[in-house]
Amino acid sequence: MLNTRFITTLLAVAIIFVSGTHAAVFRRSSRATCPQVTTKPDFNYIPYAGLWYEIERFENVFQQGTSCERAIYEEISVGVVSVLNTAVLADGSLTNITGSATAISPDEPGHLIVSFPGRPDGDYLVLDTDYTNYASVYSCDVAGAFVLEYAWLLGREQTMTQEVMDVALSKFTQFGVDVSQFQLTTQGETCVYYPEYPFPPSVSK
Ligand SMILES: *[C@@H]1O[C@H](CO)[C@@H](O)[C@H](O)[C@H]1NC(C)=O
Repeated sequence: MLNTRFITTLLAVAIIFVSGTHAAVFRRSSRATCPQVTTKPDFNYIPYAGLWYEIERFENVFQQGTSCERAIYEEISVGVVSVLNTAVLADGSLTNITGSATAISPDEPGHLIVSFPGRPDGDYLVLDTDYTNYASVYSCDVAGAFVLEYAWLLGREQTMTQEVMDVALSKFTQFGVDVSQFQLTTQGETCVYYPEYPFPPSVSK
């Protein structure tokens, strides 16, 4: 849902210029290195496409103060899906970003590279998904002394049962990822979801 290499660059700059309190935004990880993770071995982006709601995330610089996040994926060519991320900003206005995600290797189908215009590419690692309830998505970068972890727990519905969430979280904990960093994303009645999905004929992607 974002671009980690860009953040790494941003962070390197931020470390130099930003004071302690502001730097807290970037939360220095307790870990010294990125964990060795494996992606879903038989990942198939076709059933993965469609609408996902962000249930929880590790806070990150791109999503500060935003809520009601959705990710909409649609196949645009073999091995490539379009990405539309929508959210509501702190002031209540709507925001979105469009890009694409590409499967880079048949040996690692759950490893996608996400591209947004004007930014360097970033990893998108599908640790696991059952396609119909949850997806456990992760990315990790090292920037100097900092380990930057990104994690998203996505659901097909605006809410997730504890049972499903426990399964989704276990996909992170099995690699030693500290899931206590997850923060619940506001979803539901207080949210405005735009555009509708499936897209009405008038909405361009
Ligand atoms: C994305 O945001 C732009 C700028 O606010 C808006 O013009 C556009 O309609 C939005 N796109 C979608 C698909 O919602």
